[in-house]
Amino acid sequence: MTYSLFQITDIATTRGCLLLATSMGLALLVSAAAYAEPKKVDEFVEIALQAEPDLQKGRMLYFNCAICHTPEGWGSPDGRFPQIAGQHQSVILKQLADIQKGNRDNPTMIPFTDPLFFLGPQALADLSAYIEQLPMVPANSVGSGLRLEEGKKLYNEECKECHGENGEGIAKEFYPRIHGQHFQYILRQMEWVKLGKRRNADKEMVKQFKKFSQDDLEVIADYVSRLRPDKGMLADDLEQKNPDFRPGFVTAPNTQQ
Ligand code: HEC
Ligand code: HEC
Repeated sequence: MTYSLFQITDIATTRGCLLLATSMGLALLVSAAAYAEPKKVDEFVEIALQAEPDLQKGRMLYFNCAICHTPEGWGSPDGRFPQIAGQHQSVILKQLADIQKGNRDNPTMIPFTDPLFFLGPQALADLSAYIEQLPMVPANSVGSGLRLEEGKKLYNEECKECHGENGEGIAKEFYPRIHGQHFQYILRQMEWVKLGKRRNADKEMVKQFKKFSQDDLEVIADYVSRLRPDKGMLADDLEQKNPDFRPGFVTAPNTQQ
């Protein structure tokens, strides 16, 4: 039993039907585990990174993602859905592959990654390139701002080496851009890495996170959430909508800014 992405788009275009799409996804979960072929998935990522992306095709595929990640790719300020706009293409591809392989604990995405791997490396290239060029949210949610000096010190000692001075990551190393991300999402991912719930996590990073208290995690996540991406990467303001979508496109509850 397989559903094409386009069937999913049709089903998922209205809020009322989101539940249907989700429960269909749960049905797919079982089969997803059965046909996950790790080697092939990684090969797909390699090939996709070499491909010449077609943004128009990427745009069509992105309609399947917008219901949760929003048309702008900004996710939700409460951190339920991450911002994906502006993320390095390599990172998007690796995360999709890891989700497909069941290496991340949150199953919401599985029904949506599965069909992508059926479509093959070119489709993955088109979609990830489209997402990378979306302007990022100009005002992501941030933490309390009370202990930023401590956060800065910890970040520079423990994170800068991989995620960069300003949280920009390193595309060719698959190190994610983490600046501009919503505070709650950063914090949740850090908690999950510490708990071992994110099995794809870099081994070095996991070891390091074990020594952090909950307090440390919050202080660091706050600092990261306040690192600013370059101005050229950001949308002008919160009103700037993705012109590829019709006005009034309905997203999952709680994703509106
Ligand atoms: C039903 C809601 C939903 C849909 C539809 C959806 N996603 Fe997601 N996505 C999520 C959630 C929730 C997470 C966070 C998972 C976690 O916490 O581990 C996520 C995480 C991701 C991540 C990892 C982000 C990061 O920073 O680690 C990427 C990349 C991503 N989604 C891309 C996509 C793409 C591409 C599509 C469309 C093909 C898509 N998503 C469709 C809910 C969704
Ligand atoms: C040795 C390199 C390395 C170090 C050091 C490191 N990270 Fe990471 N980090 C990674 C990689 C690689 C990923 C990509 C996700 C994965 O595959 O686990 C990641 C993922 C993340 C994510 C999830 C991003 C997303 O979009 O889902 C967050 C948040 C994060 N790191 C924060 C931090 C913070 C904060 C520190 C310092 C306390 C840190 N990392 C230190 C390599 C590192």
